Amino acid sequence: MSIWNRKSLDVLLSEATESEKGLKRTLSSTSLIALGIGAIIGAGLFSLTGIAAAEHAGPAVTLSFVLAAVGCAFAGLCYAEFASMIPVAGSAYTYSYATMGEFMAWIIGWDLVLEYALGAATVGVSWSRYFLELLNKFGIHLPPDLICSPWETLKLGDGTVIEGGIINLPAIVIVSLLSLLLIRGTKESAGINNFLVVLKVAVVILFIVLGWSYINEANYHPYIPENTGVKGEFGWSGIAAGAGTVFFAFIGFDAVSTAAQEAKNPQKGMPIGILGSLIICTILYVLFAHVMTGLVPYTQFVGDAKPAATAFAATPYTFLQTGLIVAILAGYTSVMLVMLMGQSRVFYTMSNDGLLPKFFSEIHSKFRTPWKTNLFFLVFVSLFAGFVPVSDLGHMVSIGTLLAFVLVCIGVLVMRKKMPDAPRSFKTPLVPFVPLAGVVVCFYLMYSLPQESWIRLIVWMALGIVIYFAYGKKNSKLNK
Ligand code: ALA
Repeated sequence: MSIWNRKSLDVLLSEATESEKGLKRTLSSTSLIALGIGAIIGAGLFSLTGIAAAEHAGPAVTLSFVLAAVGCAFAGLCYAEFASMIPVAGSAYTYSYATMGEFMAWIIGWDLVLEYALGAATVGVSWSRYFLELLNKFGIHLPPDLICSPWETLKLGDGTVIEGGIINLPAIVIVSLLSLLLIRGTKESAGINNFLVVLKVAVVILFIVLGWSYINEANYHPYIPENTGVKGEFGWSGIAAGAGTVFFAFIGFDAVSTAAQEAKNPQKGMPIGILGSLIICTILYVLFAHVMTGLVPYTQFVGDAKPAATAFAATPYTFLQTGLIVAILAGYTSVMLVMLMGQSRVFYTMSNDGLLPKFFSEIHSKFRTPWKTNLFFLVFVSLFAGFVPVSDLGHMVSIGTLLAFVLVCIGVLVMRKKMPDAPRSFKTPLVPFVPLAGVVVCFYLMYSLPQESWIRLIVWMALGIVIYFAYGKKNSKLNK
């Protein structure tokens, strides 16, 4: 059988309606928007905004956010069409199965591990940094060997420097707890997620509102600092390079689509969830970055992993610092929760299709969640969070996600050609312009990432191809 075989739309839709046997439909449109925001606002905003301002864009980091948002919006519009048309768990993987055939679907499913599993690991490591900061505030110090991975240098708030430990234990603990929560149930997890989302959105709004009156206009001059002569260091090329960095802050809106099979009214809820969360986050990001670079000169953010706290120190509300850290921890927690959930749903679907062993699609008899997949990723993500430095993880996540976006944009063009009349309750506007612009912008952002991430991407994808031919192709239900 051919590796280009496609799954028909009818088959996909009938699988979705068999939800009695599988996942439960419990998520409303509001929960879906919360799921999106849950996955979006996190380490990108609270940690990378400062770095992007200090190294690339200055106060014009606001424009970097707009540029990254435009790229995501093109891809988001394509995701929304697919998600309303094929509301089945599995997201970009499933869309590729219907449009570009099994091999491309496998490629994208394998690629999504970079986005979701490594994304959860990356945020887990940042979570552990803020958690240590919180413990330090209460005078609690954990043994250095247990809070730092082997190849990492960790600077603590009190000035201590750890040059490589044994394991990042706090990161492993949080990943494990969240994986266990996901096993307990989607509805329970969504409930906790809604609470965490309210908390983190509240802190972002509070930061904007309280900080606004302490903005020093002088910090905005010049708004676009002059380019230093090196590409990407300020000027317009700096704004573009800043967009590549803060792209991480937008990753996650597509995670909404992985929960399509658990949405109460997916045709309507999917586009609302994807585009709604993207719009809300873009507005918050631009305002947040505006206040942050207005409070202190952007040059103060050089090498600062906690720029939000640095900027907030310029207000008289320093007593709120601890609250800020707690809310940021909550924010990171919800990002991890949605990423871990998205990951398990992608593997669940791939296993249902026979491309992965049955183990990954076994549903817990009581909780109705793909619990074995959750356990598998508890271990997998823990290994990365516990032993790999955060900088190596972050770029892998971005490049993997951008590749998925490019393929989804191409998928919309293919779908329009192959199935022009299939019902779509949401249509990407201005086709082919929007998908093509999505491909160009996302590819440009990939191009701006370091060479090592390209090499790692190629190695990971090569491993995936070997596994497909050794296992997936032979066991694929479609091929049988
Ligand atoms: N967008 C997510 C974050 O910034 C991945 O943490």
